[in-house]
Amino acid sequence: MGQTVSVPSLFQLGYYWEAKIFLTSVKLDLYTPLANGPKTAMALAENIEADPDALERLMDALVSIGLLKKDETGYTNIPELAEFLVKTSRFYMGELMLLQDAEWDHWGKLEQIVKTGKPIVTGNIFKSRPEIGATVLSVLNRMAQRVAPGLAEKIDLSKFKSFLDVGGGAGTFSMAFCKRYPHLKAMLFDLPQTLQVTEVNLKKAGMENQVLLKGGDFNLDPLPGTFDVVFLSDILHYQTEEENAALFLKLYQATQPGGMIIVKDMFINADPGSPGWNAVFSIHMMVYSEKGRCFREDAIRRWLTQAGFGDIQEIERNTVLSARRPELQ
Ligand SMILES: C[S@@+](CC[C@H](N)C(=O)[O-])C[C@H]1O[C@@H](n2cnc3c(N)ncnc32)[C@H](O)[C@@H]1O
Repeated sequence: MGQTVSVPSLFQLGYYWEAKIFLTSVKLDLYTPLANGPKTAMALAENIEADPDALERLMDALVSIGLLKKDETGYTNIPELAEFLVKTSRFYMGELMLLQDAEWDHWGKLEQIVKTGKPIVTGNIFKSRPEIGATVLSVLNRMAQRVAPGLAEKIDLSKFKSFLDVGGGAGTFSMAFCKRYPHLKAMLFDLPQTLQVTEVNLKKAGMENQVLLKGGDFNLDPLPGTFDVVFLSDILHYQTEEENAALFLKLYQATQPGGMIIVKDMFINADPGSPGWNAVFSIHMMVYSEKGRCFREDAIRRWLTQAGFGDIQEIERNTVLSARRPELQ
């Protein structure tokens, strides 16, 4: 079941003005210079090389939305929001907004995509748009830092020794599992350009000896050996049905008999309206990637079964499944 829309919110749905005002304020980074106290639009305009009058109008609109305050000394941040909007804050979440802003022109072509059924971007964004890929990784890293320790707590890996993180990105999940199970030795397999980001993160955390790196393309290259645990997070929604089915055959070969696979993604239920966010996220994938989409959970279960995995368990609703490669008879 989708959500219920009231008549006022029906009209609200059509107004993207506030969204674009907010995204632009993050793009211009208006919040960081206000971290140390109020500033006038004139002073800020000089800082960021903007037109003072246009900037003042934008900032007044931000006041009316509730994202800034204004008094006779100038504009100030809203204290509860500042920690998410000021770049130097530990909880800065601007990258997420920058990512949305970068896709603005692509979203403008949604009608064209729906009419033609053809993507407007081509190629693997982690290869073809490295700057966007790096922003995606940075956003995912922040989000994963919140959920990864909890996931590592939920899945018992105490009797396993080796862990393969396929398309492991920033390394957040590998690090969380290795912290929870210090005897684990992990290998993170990803595109060479992404591994440059991973390497920095691992070194920062002092975990470069527990999480090793291997570069390659999981659609083209063999996976680097066999492991007790194979982990796959947020990969499936970038790929076609055929690529995913083929990838699961490889993942099966990379899992030791008796070993475990953990699959994390954004699954859609048989009822297409639930969970609501995943169906909408699937449109984001249609707009900003060549072939991405969210899949129904039964598709993931089918790929697992066809590859040979059994004992499929739901670890987190609509998000995480685990399965086992049977022991040798
Ligand atoms: C959405 S990110 C997920 C990162 C990480 N697993 C997580 O959940 O935070 C997708 C990752 O897959 C990697 N990737 C995409 N296509 C790949 C391919 N063909 N071969 C290897 N890695 C790939 C990207 O470089 C990126 O790190």
